[in-house]
This record gives sequence, structure tokens and C-alpha cells, in this order.
Amino acid sequence: MTVRLKNFWLWLGIFVAATVVRARSVGIPTIPLVPAAGRFSLSNVEAIVVDGRYADSVNDKGETLIPPTLEEFAKTFSSDLEELNWSIPIKQGGVNESTSTIFLTLGDPADYHDAAGRESSEGYTLSTSSSGITVTGASPLGVWWGTRTIIQQAVLNNGSLPFGTVNDTPGWGLRGMMLDAGRHYYPPDFLIEMCAYMSFFKQNTFHLHLSDNLYNNENYTREQSLALYARFRLWSDAKELEGLNQYKNESYTEDQFHDIQTSCAARGVTIIPEIEAPGHALVFVQWKPELGLADDLSLLNISHPDTIPTIKGVWSTFLPWFKSKTVHIGADEYTAEVNDYNVFVNAMADHVRTTADKSIRIWGTFPPNYTEPGYVNIYKNVTIQHWAFFEDNPLYDYILNDYSVVNSDDTFYAVQKWPVPYPTSPNVSATFLGNPENGGSLWYPNIFDRFNASNNPARDEPRVLGHTAPLWNDHGPTATVYSEAYYAWREAIPALADKQWGGDITSAEFYTTLSSLHASIPGQNLERKIPSKSPTILNYTLSTPPTKHTSPSNVVPDTSGNAYDGTTDCPLTPSGSLNITSTCSLDTPLSSKGRNYTLTLSLLISALTNPENATLISGRDSTLLLTPNITFFASGYYYSLNSTLPLDTKIDLEVVGRGNRTFARVDGGTEEEFTVRLGIYGREVAWAGMPFEAPVRRVGGRDAGWEGEVFGVALVDGS
Ligand SMILES: *[C@@H]1O[C@H](CO)[C@@H](O)[C@H](O)[C@H]1NC(C)=O
Ligand SMILES: *[C@@H]1O[C@H](CO)[C@@H](O)[C@H](O)[C@H]1NC(C)=O
Ligand SMILES: *[C@@H]1O[C@H](CO)[C@@H](O)[C@H](O)[C@H]1NC(C)=O
Ligand SMILES: *[C@@H]1O[C@H](CO)[C@@H](O)[C@H](O)[C@H]1NC(C)=O
Ligand SMILES: *[C@@H]1O[C@H](CO)[C@@H](O)[C@H](O)[C@H]1NC(C)=O
Ligand SMILES: *[C@@H]1O[C@H](CO)[C@@H](O)[C@H](O)[C@H]1NC(C)=O
Ligand SMILES: *[C@@H]1O[C@H](CO)[C@@H](O)[C@H](O)[C@H]1NC(C)=O
Ligand SMILES: *[C@@H]1O[C@H](CO)[C@@H](O)[C@H](O)[C@H]1NC(C)=O
Ligand SMILES: *[C@@H]1O[C@H](CO)[C@@H](O)[C@H](O)[C@H]1NC(C)=O
Ligand SMILES: *[C@@H]1O[C@H](CO)[C@@H](O)[C@H](O)[C@H]1NC(C)=O
Ligand SMILES: *[C@@H]1O[C@H](CO)[C@@H](O)[C@H](O)[C@H]1NC(C)=O
Ligand SMILES: *[C@@H]1O[C@H](CO)[C@@H](O)[C@H](O)[C@H]1NC(C)=O
Repeated sequence: MTVRLKNFWLWLGIFVAATVVRARSVGIPTIPLVPAAGRFSLSNVEAIVVDGRYADSVNDKGETLIPPTLEEFAKTFSSDLEELNWSIPIKQGGVNESTSTIFLTLGDPADYHDAAGRESSEGYTLSTSSSGITVTGASPLGVWWGTRTIIQQAVLNNGSLPFGTVNDTPGWGLRGMMLDAGRHYYPPDFLIEMCAYMSFFKQNTFHLHLSDNLYNNENYTREQSLALYARFRLWSDAKELEGLNQYKNESYTEDQFHDIQTSCAARGVTIIPEIEAPGHALVFVQWKPELGLADDLSLLNISHPDTIPTIKGVWSTFLPWFKSKTVHIGADEYTAEVNDYNVFVNAMADHVRTTADKSIRIWGTFPPNYTEPGYVNIYKNVTIQHWAFFEDNPLYDYILNDYSVVNSDDTFYAVQKWPVPYPTSPNVSATFLGNPENGGSLWYPNIFDRFNASNNPARDEPRVLGHTAPLWNDHGPTATVYSEAYYAWREAIPALADKQWGGDITSAEFYTTLSSLHASIPGQNLERKIPSKSPTILNYTLSTPPTKHTSPSNVVPDTSGNAYDGTTDCPLTPSGSLNITSTCSLDTPLSSKGRNYTLTLSLLISALTNPENATLISGRDSTLLLTPNITFFASGYYYSLNSTLPLDTKIDLEVVGRGNRTFARVDGGTEEEFTVRLGIYGREVAWAGMPFEAPVRRVGGRDAGWEGEVFGVALVDGS
């Protein structure tokens, strides 16, 4: 009898365990949901109701110092739904109004635990039944992640949510990406769109590397080093910093930086700013050459009496801008005196704490040493971002010595454009692999070393803060256009986000799920998609039949079926073409088209009135010029072909965006490719393709610098 009872409990236990294991549905990240029979359609939702008791609550436990209120998150959620064509009004109310609504409320934070078993303010419970949907968050941020689950599940399930309850908490509190904005500028709107993309997959951290220089090859002369590309991306008018930054239009002003931080925070993403020193610090040495080390000008001479005060002064200027509790001081790849380095790091930690009450983070560089006499160890409350085992062993050097670590191991490193020594986009497949050496377990933020389990702390190790994957621009600002950073991360962000959260999506599930979700990621159009009824997005035909003075007379009709009619103030020629002069233009309601496209311009150039600067067609992300040669201007740089357009000849110019390359050809002739010359670490030269977005906003324009006729413009999706 007792034996049988024991067996009963044993079997019940196994049954319960098995049920728990099956509590999982696909999403990115996957969610612990046991779907019940039945669904609640978003079209039955009458309102988003924000629990009036918590409308003004904020999460003060996260990294950001500007956390949105529950009501603010609800408004962003509502505008996301609107963007996805579910128009649902929002109001404050009580639980008495939670029927046929999406009810947003807060619960007990003690109910939500991270991988280390600590309370997490990011957890949420999502309950769906015939009466409606309720999201209960550990904080407003938890509710926000719950709204991402609502959108994802609705998109994946034809507009409705399966009945059931999801109780979901991220395993790790730091989940994100790092972008090298030092060796390549990115405009604020790009960064904000990236935050929207990351947030959809529940990443909460965007680390911006804001100063750096190209590799300072030992064979360069002093003059070559001092002329090397080095940038500091924050713009301040402070007198003390005069000369540090000479490139205002590729920098962030305080207002712009504030806008980036608030727009990202609105979607639960905190910007972690990094100002890099005392290595990768050539920009400071170009400003104050006496601070550089003679044998490597990209390293600061820390023992120079002005070095620490100078860098402290830089931080004093910018600390008030930063709305995170932690800032990153770089401290990567310093190769001079270790004690100088440690003194520098601790001095910056003290400075940042006393002036702004913030903590600092550094890249793992010199591990602590408790046996060397006179060795100054870095404070244990400085967090370490591990990136390579040749720098440190994160478990033995740091975690076992009570330091907290962010996993940025180079397993997921990427360097744009040139695939050596790191790939051009992160190794997405590694996120899905169970490694035999780790008992077949999947990759998670506590896995520093996929091939040697003894280097990895346990999953519940509280000193693993989370994971960040960096993308570097070693080959400088000309190597890529802005959007290439997005394309390098298009799959990596969702794939990493799943495991950073603690999900377990498989490779097979991932690609189909991502392709189902991709068109519904609110707050961004990084791929510059243009809605269209057919592959032809826009078609203006000016000469046949003559479109002469349709009403109103300045309208150029679009025959694609999309009604993207143009407007023009250029006169028509007798044959019906547009007579372009330097005082008029043809404008479309569009702006930019991403991969892939074919843009065809039927035209005749009669004169280059400005032989230096003739703009054929321009858009949000690029401009196509006629000088010098056929030239793209994009992301701040010019990329020229070797050919020019003939004058006084009617031609069809086709510009083709095909994957990560762009081509042009005239009258169906041979395609010529737009390329870039890359200098690889001062060692070799290479050529690579460039993927420009198609410029489709304006043909000609004031001071366009050319005259002629336009017979037609067509934009086709695909190449
Ligand atoms: C929403 O509706 C607009 C207009 O019909 C359409 O262009 C767009 O593709 C729709 N968006 C989604 C995500 O379905
Ligand atoms: C619901 O309850 C809230 C307080 O929780 C109250 O302010 C509101 O008037 C009630 N609404 C209805 C329709 O009873
Ligand atoms: C410097 O030049 C020497 C001699 O040409 C070469 O062997 C070495 O690799 C160069 N160093 C770097 C970092 O390129
Ligand atoms: C610490 O310093 C001692 C003495 O110089 C040295 O033998 C040891 O290798 C160092 N330990 C580490 C972990 O670097
Ligand atoms: C970090 O540690 C240092 C050295 O122990 C200490 O002086 C400082 O107050 C600590 N900072 C914080 C924020 O606790
Ligand atoms: C360009 O695209 C090709 C084909 O998809 C790919 O093999 C290559 O790695 C890409 N290059 C870069 C720099 O991303
Ligand atoms: C644009 O319209 C013209 C005239 O109808 C037609 O000949 C041409 O094929 C169209 N182009 C595209 C790309 O659809
Ligand atoms: C275009 O307009 C100019 C006057 O602005 C005129 O001289 C020229 O002949 C016109 N071109 C054509 C092809 O009609
Ligand atoms: C232009 O010509 C130069 C010299 O022949 C060649 O190196 C380069 O690749 C050409 N550029 C393009 C875009 O074809
Ligand atoms: C323009 O094309 C010529 C060859 O036709 C080439 O020599 C020249 O370098 C090109 N200009 C630029 C800026 O690439
Ligand atoms: C664009 O073209 C490339 C190369 O032909 C192809 O690999 C890619 O899938 C296409 N992308 C889209 C969005 O159609
Ligand atoms: C070239 O002309 C355009 C106007 O079409 C202007 O916006 C741009 O600044 C000019 N570029 C240079 C280098 O003068």
C-alpha cells in the first residue's frame, strides 16, 4: 500500500515535471506558456486599461535613471498596436474594467526571480481568458515586456492570443548589444530605430562606444599616427574641451543624446555610454599630444600629471548628460604599465562616483593579482566586461575574486566588412548549439567558453550580470553605410535576445518565427520598406502618353497602382518630358528604399551647370550625383564609379541594389559596381561592395547643378 502510494507520488511528480517542461510556446524569446483551449482576439479588445493605482509608477531598479511610467509604456504600446492596425483606445481604470480589455497592472516583485534566484523587476504574468487579457508586471518595465509578448503572440496566432497564463522573468538583467560609434558615426534616428528593434525581442541595453581611433600600426610615423582617423562623438561647447571634437555634424549634441536616451528608455532600453581611455585614446592625444606615450600615441601616458585630470574633466562635462546608473570608461587593450592602468581605473571610479553617484564598467584587460607586492587592484565594485580569454579568465580572475562580469566573449564578436579576424556578423548558429562539453546544454550568458565547461560559472551565479554582443568598425567610417550595422545584426539580435533572456528557441523554430514576426516590429523601418501592391512601387512616365496638365497641373501621376503621385514645379517640354533646370524639381512622396531594388531614370542631361556638384536624385539615406562620375553620397562619404553619363543623349540609367552590393548600368549595358577601398590595419588594402539605399525623394532641385529632361522614373522592389 505505502509502496503503491509512493509510486503514485513519484509518478505524479514526473507527470508534473513533464508538464512544467512543456510549458513553453514559440516567440522570440520563447515564453513559458501552456496554451489552453480557446483564443482571445485582439479585435475584441475594447480598451487598454492602465490600473489607475499604478499609472505613475516607475521601475527604479533598472539601469536607467529615466524610467517611463506605467502609463507612458501603455501609450507606446497603444501606438505600436495602431501601427500594426489594431486601433485600441487607452484609459485609466480599475480591475472592475478588466473585461474585454488589455488590463495593465503591477503585482508583487517577490514573485519574479532571475537565474540567480534574485527578485527581478522585469518579470511579468500574462493571463488570457475569454474575458480578456491581463498583464501583471513586477514593475512597469515587466509590463512592457509583457506587451511585447502580446504583440508577438498576436502576430504569430493570426491576431489572437491563446488562453493561458505566462509567468515569465528574464534570467539575466543585462541583455544587449554594443555598437562602435567611435570609428563610424551613426545618426540619432538610426540608433533609436535600433532600440525599437532590440526592444521587440526584450533586450534592455544598448552600449554605445563613443570614442576610438583606427588601428595605430607600429610602422606609422608620428605624423601618420597623429593624422589617423580618431573621433570623439559628443559635442560640447565647454571651453575646457575646445579642440577635442572638431566634427560637430558627426557628433551628438546634448539635446540629441538626450533624445536618444529618452526614446530608447521609452521602449525599455538603456543607453550605456562609453568614453574610451587610456587605450584607443588617440583622439585625446591629437588634442593634447603631450599626453600620448611616445612609442604608441593611441595610449595615454598615465604618469603625465595632466592625464588623469584631463580625462576626469571630460567626464565632468558629460556625466550630467548620462541617464544610466553605470557608465563605461573603456580601459581596453592598454599595453603599458599595469599599475598606472589600475590607478587610472580607480581614479575614474572615484571621480564618477563622487561627481555623479554612478558606477563604472571596464573591458577585461589586466586581471587582479593578490600575490604581487605593491600591485594596486581595481575596486571590486568596478564591473568587468570580459571579451577574450587572452585577456582574462572571467571565472577564475574575476568572478571567484568577487567581481561582477558582463559576458561579451568574442564568441559573438563581429567586425564590419572584412571577415578577418572576426566574422562580419555574429555567429548566430552558436546561439542554438548545445555543446557536448557542457553536457549538451545551450549557450546562455553564463557560458563564457563553449568548449571548456570548467571555465563557466553555474547558471545561477549572481556575478554574471548578463551578455552584450559588440559590433566593431575596425575598418573605419567609409567601409559601411549606417544600415549595414543593422543588417549585420538582423538575425543576431533576436537569436541572442532569446538566450540572453533564458529562452530555448531552436534553429528551425527561429528562422520561421523571425520571418513571421519581422514585418510587425513597431517603431522602426530599418529596411526602408515601402508598401506596394505589386513589385512596381512607383512608375512615372512623362512622355508617352503626354501627361500634359492633368489637374492639378503640377501632379505627376504614378501608374504603379500605389498612387505615389509626384509633384513638380518644372515645366513640360513640347514632347511631354519634364524640363529640369536648377530652379525646379520633381518630388515623390517616398524617400528611401532598402534592399533590394531597381531604380530606373529615363533622362537626358544637357548641361552640368555645376561641374563639381550635380545632384541627380536624393533621399533620406543617400544621394546620387553626376559628379565626379556617377557617384553615391551616403553616410557622409562619396563612392564613385569610373564612368560618367553622356551629355545630350537620352538614356536609361538603372541603379540596382542587390543584397550587400550596388550596381549601375546605362541602357542595359554592363553593370558597374560601387566599391570601397579598405585599409586593413595599415597592413593591406582590399576592395569591397557597398549597399546603398535607393534615393527616391527628389529629382533635381534648387542648385542641383544640372539641366536636362526627365522622361520617366520607376522603382521596383527586387533586383
Ligand atoms: C496596416 O494597414 C496599412 C494600410 O492598409 C498597410 O499599408 C500596412 O501594411 C498594415 N500594416 C500591417 C502591419 O498589417
Ligand atoms: C472602477 O474602479 C476604479 C477605482 O479602482 C474607479 O475609479 C472607477 O470609477 C470604477 N469604474 C467603474 C466603471 O465602476
Ligand atoms: C611593420 O613592418 C614590418 C616590416 O615590414 C612587418 O614585418 C610588420 O608586420 C609590420 N607591423 C605591422 C603591425 O603591420
Ligand atoms: C601575480 O604576480 C606574481 C608575481 O609577479 C606572478 O608570479 C603571478 O603570475 C601573477 N599572477 C597573475 C594571475 O597574473
Ligand atoms: C567602490 O569601492 C571603493 C573601494 O573599496 C569604495 O571607495 C567606493 O565607495 C565603492 N563605491 C561604491 C559605489 O560603493
Ligand atoms: C555580402 O553578402 C554575401 C552574400 O549574402 C555574404 O556572403 C557576405 O558575407 C556579405 N558581406 C558582408 C561584408 O556582409
Ligand atoms: C512603367 O510604365 C510604362 C508605361 O506604361 C511601362 O512601359 C513600364 O514597363 C513601367 N515600368 C515598370 C517598372 O513597371
Ligand atoms: C527648357 O527650358 C528652357 C528655358 O528655361 C529652354 O531654354 C529649353 O529649350 C527647354 N528645353 C526643352 C527641351 O524644351
Ligand atoms: C576604377 O578604376 C580603378 C583604376 O583602374 C580601379 O582600381 C577601380 O576598381 C575602378 N572602380 C570601379 C568602381 O570600378
Ligand atoms: C572618374 O573616372 C575616371 C575614369 O574614367 C577615373 O580615373 C577617376 O578616378 C574617377 N573619379 C573618381 C573620383 O573615382
Ligand atoms: C536581395 O538579393 C540578394 C542577392 O540576390 C538575396 O540574397 C536577398 O535575399 C535579397 N533580399 C531580399 C530582401 O529580397
Ligand atoms: C552639393 O549641392 C547640394 C544641393 O544640391 C548641397 O546640399 C550640398 O551641400 C553640395 N555639396 C557640396 C560639397 O558643396
